[in-house]
Amino acid sequence: MTTKTIPSSPFAGQQPGTSGLRKKVRVFQQPNYSENFIQSIFDVIDDKAGTTLVIGGDGRFHNRIVIQQAIRMAAANGFGRVLVGRGGILSTPAASHMIRKRGAIGGLILSASHNPGGPDEDFGIKYNISNGGPAPEKITEAIYARTQTIERWLTVEAGDVDLDTLGGIEVGTMPVEVIDPVADYADLMETLFDFDAIRSHVAGGFTMAFDAMNAVTGPYATEIFERRLGFAPGTVRNGIPLEDFGHHHPDPNLVHARALYELMMGPEAPDFGAASDGDGDRNLIIGRGRFVTPSDSLAMLAAGAHLAKGYATGLKGVARSMPTSAAVDRVAAALGIPCFETPTGWKFFGNLLEAGKATICGEESCGTGSDHIREKDGLWAVLLWLNILAVRKLSVDALARAHWAQFGRNYYARHDYEGIERARADALIAELEAAIPALAGRRIGSLLITGADNFTYADPVDGSISRRQGIRILFEGGSRVVLRLSGTGTQGATLRVYLERYEPAGGELDCETPAMLGELIAAAETLVRISYHTGRSAPDVVT
Ligand code: G1P
Ligand code: ZN
Repeated sequence: MTTKTIPSSPFAGQQPGTSGLRKKVRVFQQPNYSENFIQSIFDVIDDKAGTTLVIGGDGRFHNRIVIQQAIRMAAANGFGRVLVGRGGILSTPAASHMIRKRGAIGGLILSASHNPGGPDEDFGIKYNISNGGPAPEKITEAIYARTQTIERWLTVEAGDVDLDTLGGIEVGTMPVEVIDPVADYADLMETLFDFDAIRSHVAGGFTMAFDAMNAVTGPYATEIFERRLGFAPGTVRNGIPLEDFGHHHPDPNLVHARALYELMMGPEAPDFGAASDGDGDRNLIIGRGRFVTPSDSLAMLAAGAHLAKGYATGLKGVARSMPTSAAVDRVAAALGIPCFETPTGWKFFGNLLEAGKATICGEESCGTGSDHIREKDGLWAVLLWLNILAVRKLSVDALARAHWAQFGRNYYARHDYEGIERARADALIAELEAAIPALAGRRIGSLLITGADNFTYADPVDGSISRRQGIRILFEGGSRVVLRLSGTGTQGATLRVYLERYEPAGGELDCETPAMLGELIAAAETLVRISYHTGRSAPDVVT
């Protein structure tokens, strides 16, 4: 074993983050930088002897380098063995499952999610604990505290592991197993969904386009959709993981998955379209001629989940992040199950899933998942959609219309203002916070404000309180405007404005979203003075 000294911590003075470390590749390439962070993780894990550590990533540039570093360091730090995905590949959901299934103490997932990859783009390292979920704040804070004081890191002197050949090898005295990254995960999906029903639907002519965006889900999607479910070869598009994602943002939204959207709206559209992000935890769902918002998708999945064998006994509860539309609340009410409203971020679902209070969770930012693992799961959402459609034998459009006819429709959009000067963004929030007490009862055009607050969450499992999680302005009839600053942006501040208009069953269910949201957008401008504060006349991204 070799001890390397760190002259001065490259992390000194940096703010702790909560979802691992996400920086430019060039930052990770600095001497001691990745090593410092990985050693800090290892230093806060107690009782490593004899335990299994899972390592894998989304295949982006620099993935293989950090995997080799991490394996040598794991050997020096006394882990019992390392499981690493072939080619260094493990999607975030597959890693979560691998940790749980193999009884690992935890795992290192190397990804910057939907951010672009390449020598000048982003990289990231996150640590998941033994339940397969992201390390809770207590642990991430301990890791960051350690990065500030650490003076050495441990490694063994050993060559690189051949990541492309399945099988076992020793590094130092520690066994390393290169495993198939797909098989266990695909098997898990077969336990949850009725593959026979989907196969016969496909045999009956049902078609799909799945855009893997040259990111991690390609091998998973090819195995599950084309090999196990019988979809035609070519169903999976951009299925080879590339280090730079083919120069694209592997972000499955209407901007970056434009090609899929255009296909689905055009004359050549297959029955079903879907995409996933860099590390495989997000999903986008588009039927032929019908885009489904992630908030609606959550509601429609909750309403149909009992049609899949993994959920046949019903859901214990559902959960959504606060800015996600309230469409799922109405499904929960009809099913007579609880609906939890949490702050933005998957980690807030962890306690609810662990305690058996919620079975299905989702966020407006294309994240949906269930208690089968402790991360959101892009392919899981696609498969649940396929299972529901195979049983109900409806098109996506017909299913959406039937859903709205029963529950009403939550017209929804998110407007992002990116790269705003931090001080200006803070000023906007401060001005709005000050205005909150006077908002209830105010009328803007035909809209009546019934209440406003800065969202506070009391975790029903551990009682912890999270304050100031986003400003909610509530209108008569169930419409809302929500504003918050992004916690994941890398440059300046990003303002997110979430707009939601509820039309009850029997109302105007077949209109265009921008038209339906026009009055709310104008009201938001009047109340918040967005263009004055941001200096922008329009959002940078509308999703
Ligand atoms: C964004 C999304 C949020 C998601 C997070 C991590 O966070 O809005 O729903 O959990 O990425 O994928 P934000 O940048 O809004 O803080
Ligand atoms: Zn992701």
